[in-house]
Amino acid sequence: MSNLKISDRFVKSFLTETLIQKELENAEKARQTLLQKKGVGNEFLGWVDLPGQTSADELQKIRLAAETIQSHSQYLVVVGIGGSYLGARAVIEALTPEFSAQEVQKKAVKIIYAGHHLDADYHARLLAFLENKEFSVNVISKSGTTTEPAIAFRLLLSLLERKYGRENLKNRVYATTDKEKGALKQLADEYGFPSFVIPDDVGGRYSVFTPVGLLPIAAAGFSINKLIDGAKQMEGELKTKSASEGNLATYYASMRNGLYAQGKKTEILVSYSPALVFVSEWWKQLFGESEGKNGKGIFPASVQFTTDLHSMGQYIQDGERHLMETVIKVESPKQDVYLTEKTDDRDGLNYLAGKKLSEVNQSAMLGTLIAHKDGGVPCLEIVLPGLSEETIGELLYLFQFACGISGYMLGVNPFDQPGVEDYKNNMFALLGKKGYEKRKNEILSHI
Ligand code: PA5
Repeated sequence: MSNLKISDRFVKSFLTETLIQKELENAEKARQTLLQKKGVGNEFLGWVDLPGQTSADELQKIRLAAETIQSHSQYLVVVGIGGSYLGARAVIEALTPEFSAQEVQKKAVKIIYAGHHLDADYHARLLAFLENKEFSVNVISKSGTTTEPAIAFRLLLSLLERKYGRENLKNRVYATTDKEKGALKQLADEYGFPSFVIPDDVGGRYSVFTPVGLLPIAAAGFSINKLIDGAKQMEGELKTKSASEGNLATYYASMRNGLYAQGKKTEILVSYSPALVFVSEWWKQLFGESEGKNGKGIFPASVQFTTDLHSMGQYIQDGERHLMETVIKVESPKQDVYLTEKTDDRDGLNYLAGKKLSEVNQSAMLGTLIAHKDGGVPCLEIVLPGLSEETIGELLYLFQFACGISGYMLGVNPFDQPGVEDYKNNMFALLGKKGYEKRKNEILSHI
């Protein structure tokens, strides 16, 4: 039984029973298409079976690499972009305490990210920072040719070679890439870097349960076995339960597609904890890159409450009515804080004395759900008992499965991303890359 629940108490009034039934039937058809691997993009469905097929030996190999990194490094620089870093970051940031002086476990390394943008200041400061630190690098790129991580890796490799010597890099650089193709694989073989494989049939944004996500997560000190156990739990449930038996993925996909048909074109993922900000970033990529095609697709946005109630709250309550919300509700925090009474009560907070901060946060959440529903924003709730490797594993797998179903319901291929190439081609043309000369003239004539 999964630990997650979905509540539609703030959605039902926006949809008729007939529409919900129709969407559920479509979602069940899409689930069958996904499971039978008969839909478009079916060459990229390796992720569907992945948690259940991950062996103890594979996990052990990743844990051993993580332990080697931990044995000599203070920092692990994770070099990747999009699906090649967001999954790891989502899990690591959801589970890492903000103010812990020590890392989660004594042995864990601090994770730093690079290659996920081209900002010069950031990379210059990173290189200066690492100059006198003990560090390792996990470079992650399925194609091995993505410009942002390739640039960051080139810079970091020069620093590593200067600092440690080329012959001493075998335990400091880990490449996660295609099993045989691509520049990164060739480079890893040439230098003798240990490499981990991204399976051919798993695309970037569906790769968190491969070494793409697992090596950084293990190095950060978290249990990849528990993460996979959570995902496996959800995989079993979503594969076996039909829509009429309460399948969470078909339900989520039905609700969001039913609301989309009613003009709710933007879905906001809402969390009430800053720990979940990168779960939202990962979710945005997953749904945005999977569904935004052929002039269609729900626009995925995110906010973190109550922080953003003081910035975006006005629009959500009262602006254009094209919004729906999916709220991630975490029932119990790992730790709590009690509010106490003060004799002067100048801040007027004595009415809260004796309450836990989590109760205040839950009341803010309920109050907001009611207000937004009353303001015309349907709000679906995904309820987690707490944040742990298992529950995050369940949540991420649920979103992946629901995204596959939802893309099929929409009539798009949820596993490709042809539109991403356009900016790259223009950038290559502007930078003078060989073969792009004609395009340069064309695009410059538009401005
Ligand atoms: O989901 C995807 O496929 C993309 O976001 C890729 O992960 C991203 O573009 C990085 O690609 P690569 O791993 O080939 O460097």
